[in-house]
Amino acid sequence: MDAKDSWNQRYTERNVCTPRGAVVSYIQAYLTRTGAKPETTQVLDYGCGNGRNMLYLLKQGFDAVGFDLSIRGVELARSNLEEQLKIEPRTAEARARVGDMRQPLLYQDREFNVIINFGVLQQAESRYLPLIFSEMYRVLKQGGEVFFHTRSINQAQFGKLIESPRYDSDGNRVIVTQGPTLELEIKGIPVMWHFFSEQEFKKLSAQAGFELHSLVEFVHGRREEGEAFDRVSWEGILRKP
Ligand SMILES: C[S@@+](CC[C@H](N)C(=O)[O-])C[C@H]1O[C@@H](n2cnc3c(N)ncnc32)[C@H](O)[C@@H]1O
Repeated sequence: MDAKDSWNQRYTERNVCTPRGAVVSYIQAYLTRTGAKPETTQVLDYGCGNGRNMLYLLKQGFDAVGFDLSIRGVELARSNLEEQLKIEPRTAEARARVGDMRQPLLYQDREFNVIINFGVLQQAESRYLPLIFSEMYRVLKQGGEVFFHTRSINQAQFGKLIESPRYDSDGNRVIVTQGPTLELEIKGIPVMWHFFSEQEFKKLSAQAGFELHSLVEFVHGRREEGEAFDRVSWEGILRKP
């Protein structure tokens, strides 16, 4: 099943409008660290889904727009924006657009101060990743940042192998230069996930020109939502120097 169908199916039953806690913490820390003001900060909600994070950002006074592959997700984002912010349908349509990260982005060079990329990068096979990273770099202003959350190779992986991992050796130890991509099922709906190795993430960031400001790996459970295994994720910040 294509990611578009998978997410269209998912968004028929899901419309949680609270922002991700990690996004809220990152944004608060960004304002303190940089001294930026929300009104003059352009934010791209990359793979915005139903717009939960964009909604939060707009409510805080940021100039936020978003895009997503799923038309159903984008329709939900538009109606959430219209209802909760009392804005015209045309304004909501301009803020939330349909787009595919595996193609050049819909935005101009140096348009954004911040990209929020929450739970999206893992949905591309590795051949798209160099373009994805270089496009994020292109649309960011100098000094701009990407806050990301994505899957780690250290998560238990079960499912149909779409891409095998690749290994290398530095003479002393084995290095995973590219994580695997698998098709698996979450709550009965097939999804395709790429599992990033640390080496791979660092290489993709550096090749695009980013500085890796921070990279943290952590374990978090979703068992209360019916998932059988803990998730292991990367979270961090890329900076365009
Ligand atoms: C885990 S959800 C995260 C949504 C949102 N960022 C959030 O925090 O609620 C992943 C999102 O990535 C989107 N997506 C998957 N493949 C994509 C692609 N190729 N281009 C753009 N968005 C994509 C899905 O439609 C889905 O909305």
